[in-house]
Amino acid sequence: MNTLSTDTDQVVNKTSINSANHRHLLDVDSLSSDDVEYFLDNAEYMRSMITSESSNMDSLKGKSIYTLFFENSTRTRVSFEQAGKTLGANVINISAADSSVKKGESLLNTVLTINAMQMDGLILRHPNAGAPNFVAKHIDTPLINAGDGLHAHPTQALLDAMTLRRTLGNLTNAKIAIIGDIIHSRVARSDIILLARMGAQISIAGPPTLMPYGWIPDASVKVSTDIDGNDLKVQICQSAEQAIDDADVIITLRLQIERQSEGLLPDVNEYSKIWGINAKKLSLARPNAVIMHPGPMNEGIEISTDIAHGPRSLIKDQVLNGVAIRMAVLQAYCGNEGLAH
Ligand code: CP
Repeated sequence: MNTLSTDTDQVVNKTSINSANHRHLLDVDSLSSDDVEYFLDNAEYMRSMITSESSNMDSLKGKSIYTLFFENSTRTRVSFEQAGKTLGANVINISAADSSVKKGESLLNTVLTINAMQMDGLILRHPNAGAPNFVAKHIDTPLINAGDGLHAHPTQALLDAMTLRRTLGNLTNAKIAIIGDIIHSRVARSDIILLARMGAQISIAGPPTLMPYGWIPDASVKVSTDIDGNDLKVQICQSAEQAIDDADVIITLRLQIERQSEGLLPDVNEYSKIWGINAKKLSLARPNAVIMHPGPMNEGIEISTDIAHGPRSLIKDQVLNGVAIRMAVLQAYCGNEGLAH
């Protein structure tokens, strides 16, 4: 059993995570419903501590957590740093651009080098899908995937699930529209799997050139299975308007301009007009529908400024919940009691 060590009686004492293959957090695919509930409940507790400023949390005291980022990041890297420090850990940040990677050192040798410094946890972001899975085969130290290529961003999906559970109560039959550059989005992939498993009905829309192979309008695509082994599917829509119609939640994605191959996107202005979320499109959703964006935003392209900063935007809440989720994740994977294997 992995509990939170704090100065109060409010210790979250839920069932420990299903840790059969959970030494590392590489994706959301292998998380059970209980695992997700465990993280979300513990993150609620962490959030209450960081917002009340009454905490004295030192459950990671003496631990050294390394962040190793081969891509730029603001939210993920900084929130992991804040999460680790709030729990008392020593957090060491390595930017690949400033490291001996620039002299030709490989990813694996870089990780083995810092592991030899008695690392207690590694947070890795890498542009290549599967890089964390590869590294995880070579170390016993817990590795948390902070985003790998087009593959996965598990802590983003957990913080999005937490944000939605706080807003909607639960996700059963909640209608969620995910709009935009789907093919390049590891957030979309992780969100789709996790939110579908939590009971949401998910509609997807985006330019045909920015959709995964076979995701064509009007298709219903299997993305995962529920705990009984039944198929979980998402609906591919003809248009943003069709996906948004009657939605409880709109998740708009960053247009990943840096990942566009030539010809995928002829005109950013046209993209914005057809797929960008503005007041007119939002009016098609349910009256209290909320807007989310994983960040960083291209304001004025995939989301208008008034919507991004308006009363129905949960974007700042996503950021705060990101710290809480990462505290819960670090606690679970790097805490003294560790995971029951
Ligand atoms: N959402 C997200 O991963 O943002 P960063 O790239 O700023 O970490």
